[in-house]
Amino acid sequence: MRIAIAGATGHIGSLTAAALEGQGHEVVRISRSLGVDLTTGAGLDDALAGVAAVVDATNCAATDRDEAVAYFGTTTRTLLAAEARAGVRHHVLLSIAAVHRTEGNAHYAGKREQERLIAEGPVPWTIVPFTQFHDFAEMVAGWVERDGVAPIAPLLVQPIAPADVADVLAEIAAGEPKGRYVDVAGPETQDLVDMARRTHHVRGRTVKLVPTWSGGVFGPAMAGEVLLPGADARIAPTTFDEWLAQQHGQA
Ligand SMILES: NC(=O)c1ccc[n+]([C@@H]2O[C@H](COP(=O)([O-])OP(=O)(O)OC[C@H]3O[C@@H](n4cnc5c(N)ncnc54)[C@H](OP(=O)(O)O)[C@@H]3O)[C@@H](O)[C@H]2O)c1
Repeated sequence: MRIAIAGATGHIGSLTAAALEGQGHEVVRISRSLGVDLTTGAGLDDALAGVAAVVDATNCAATDRDEAVAYFGTTTRTLLAAEARAGVRHHVLLSIAAVHRTEGNAHYAGKREQERLIAEGPVPWTIVPFTQFHDFAEMVAGWVERDGVAPIAPLLVQPIAPADVADVLAEIAAGEPKGRYVDVAGPETQDLVDMARRTHHVRGRTVKLVPTWSGGVFGPAMAGEVLLPGADARIAPTTFDEWLAQQHGQA
């Protein structure tokens, strides 16, 4: 099957491309660095020729709500319109569990806009809501680290391994559209501060972590169990500890 991945040079996009190719599928890689831009549509019609399914694993760095909604809105509209022209039969979105359970932050507002456009759009779809990835704590601490100190929200999460995310996306992209899929999560709950501390330790980095709900992108609205997956969630196998053990010696 010919499957395009938007965001194929990214963290999850590259793993999903590898997973699909490992199963014998032909993968079309889409990203700006590869000459295809979802904000303008440049190169998109050529890229989608003969494509049966598209996985959207793009990202948006905006921290302003309006910017995030505009970016995800523009890229999603552009992608869906090109898919309709090309006769694509299945649009798969890498989304986030809980974006409808909390206002969250600017990024969540952008993801809700993506989901709205897809659900109302012309292409049969599957929206797959994932919990935070195992490397999420390190990434979040990295955004705000200054002089070896990082404020970090003590979020309760049930994180999932990036490779497990890719495997689920590859399976779904090769199948029939399912509409809204169940939440997909890892096997155990974790505290984000503890995850960051342990990840820094295996990286050989010393960072003072300051647990706080102030000043970061995650406020008290995301406290408690709001980020945990629904009761009917699909549980992926790889624990945070197993993932951490694989990180030794990796930058
Ligand atoms: N981190 C988490 O814990 C978590 C949990 C659940 C869901 N998610 C979702 O996972 C998604 C992917 O995250 P990630 O960390 O894998 O992303 P990433 O590593 O930042 O990769 C983003 C990809 O999107 C491409 N891209 C961005 N803008 C584009 C545009 N205008 N046109 C074409 N390509 C574009 C980038 O390539 P170029 O720069 O070359 O264009 C890159 O390949 C995000 O949408 C996020 O909401 C994340």
